Amino acid sequence: MTDSTENYHNPIVNKLRDAGLFIEKAFVDGQWTTKDTQFDVLGTVLGRMPSLDRDDFQAAIRSASAAQPKFFESTTGAARGALLRKWSDLILTNVDDIATIMSLENGKTIGEAKGETAYAASFISWFAEEATRSYGTTIPSSSPDTTLLTIREPVGVCGIITPWNFPAAMITRKVGPAIAAGCSVVIKPPSETPFTCMALVKLALEAGIPPQLIQVCPTKDRAAATELATNPLVNKISFTGSTGVGKMLAKLAAGTLKKVSLELGGNAPFIVFDDANLDIAAEGAMFCKFRCSGQTCVCANRLYVQKSAVKSFTEKLVQKVAALKMGAGLDPSTTQGPLVNKAAVEKAQSHVDDALKKGAKLEIGGKPRQDSPGYFFEPTVVSGVTTEMVVSKDETFGPLAPIFVFETEDEVVRLANDTEFGLAGYFFSCDVGRAWRVAQRLQVGMVGVNTGKISAAEAPFGGVKESGYGKEGSLYGLADYQNIKSITFGNLQQ
Ligand code: SIN
Repeated sequence: MTDSTENYHNPIVNKLRDAGLFIEKAFVDGQWTTKDTQFDVLGTVLGRMPSLDRDDFQAAIRSASAAQPKFFESTTGAARGALLRKWSDLILTNVDDIATIMSLENGKTIGEAKGETAYAASFISWFAEEATRSYGTTIPSSSPDTTLLTIREPVGVCGIITPWNFPAAMITRKVGPAIAAGCSVVIKPPSETPFTCMALVKLALEAGIPPQLIQVCPTKDRAAATELATNPLVNKISFTGSTGVGKMLAKLAAGTLKKVSLELGGNAPFIVFDDANLDIAAEGAMFCKFRCSGQTCVCANRLYVQKSAVKSFTEKLVQKVAALKMGAGLDPSTTQGPLVNKAAVEKAQSHVDDALKKGAKLEIGGKPRQDSPGYFFEPTVVSGVTTEMVVSKDETFGPLAPIFVFETEDEVVRLANDTEFGLAGYFFSCDVGRAWRVAQRLQVGMVGVNTGKISAAEAPFGGVKESGYGKEGSLYGLADYQNIKSITFGNLQQ
């Protein structure tokens, strides 16, 4: 066991107000720990993390399992809410440091990183309030001598697996409700961006959250991490990431019938009708296509524009894209950071190449940029895209806006729904009847009407079809970490 504030050798710490927030360690059984087996984060540019093995995961799960009932039995909802509120406040107090760590490990711009830090804190403060509103019910009984009621109980130990694109918010959107409900968590943070998670956990401890309640097991050993899906002491698993990994985890979790929540891939349609305000539509496209350099599950992947609006909308979009500036995340003038790795650049390139080969027109961008360190791909717009092109089926997860043309509402709804995914969908129209109709007809879990911004602590986040199941955030998010128990009292009058 070693203390977390030993990492002063790393140049990152010079950029932080509180150097102790940069932690190259795991957190298991209430101790900051390290191991001989380690992995590099960003090719040692940033630092190294211990790579935990199956035994370590088992130790973390055992510790979380022992801690959970003690925590639940010794706290009220209000007390858990107070701990969470304090944690949220500490995150906001340390927003600059957390955003700096996040921008360095993820590449996102410092502005986006600060925004994500506030977004991450908002889930914790939201669930601090929800902790006090975890109501049961009384149910009118069909028997005269029976009284029936329900209470909510924590599911127990939760395995949490999160992605690199939102290094803070995907953790707090899961850990916030888990602690509000009285659960404990074992987190496997993303190996690309583990340091944001460690800073958040340090602040959770400072807020007074009991040490064994949150365990963090960084690893490069995928097989070791599957312990979270198979260990009988884990009661629930929550995963955000690819549909392929989600399906694999769901299969493994079925062995012990764990509760499972999956936030998986998307292939979001973004529809612009000719009765829309095209300036608002172009603004919406900028946000939900180029946020995080196009690397979000809810990013617009297919832009469908009605024929008579396509020329004007494309011009407006291209003009805005031309004003974007790629560069290092910490440079305040940067609006577009790098992609996560070489494979991400290659995927964006292959989607562009395929579209151009099959007849699409390049409006702007279209190639990697190698003049600054990192994996950059130019923000790109291609028009004249058709259903034969790969981008109509496959999520790019990069800064490519492909524009399709459509003629009728029925046609575009059919095209939009022609995918196995169903996470988010967006459309722009000033016709109120159409707004209601299309919102109902899109087969997705979340719809943005005349906006590209749909994510907030109070909004239920989650998809349908192969985008997964379960809702995060909102009044529904707590229930995913609870079991409903019915209690039937008989013969109370005796
Ligand atoms: C995601 O892309 O996984 C999350 C995006 C969001 O919360 O808005």
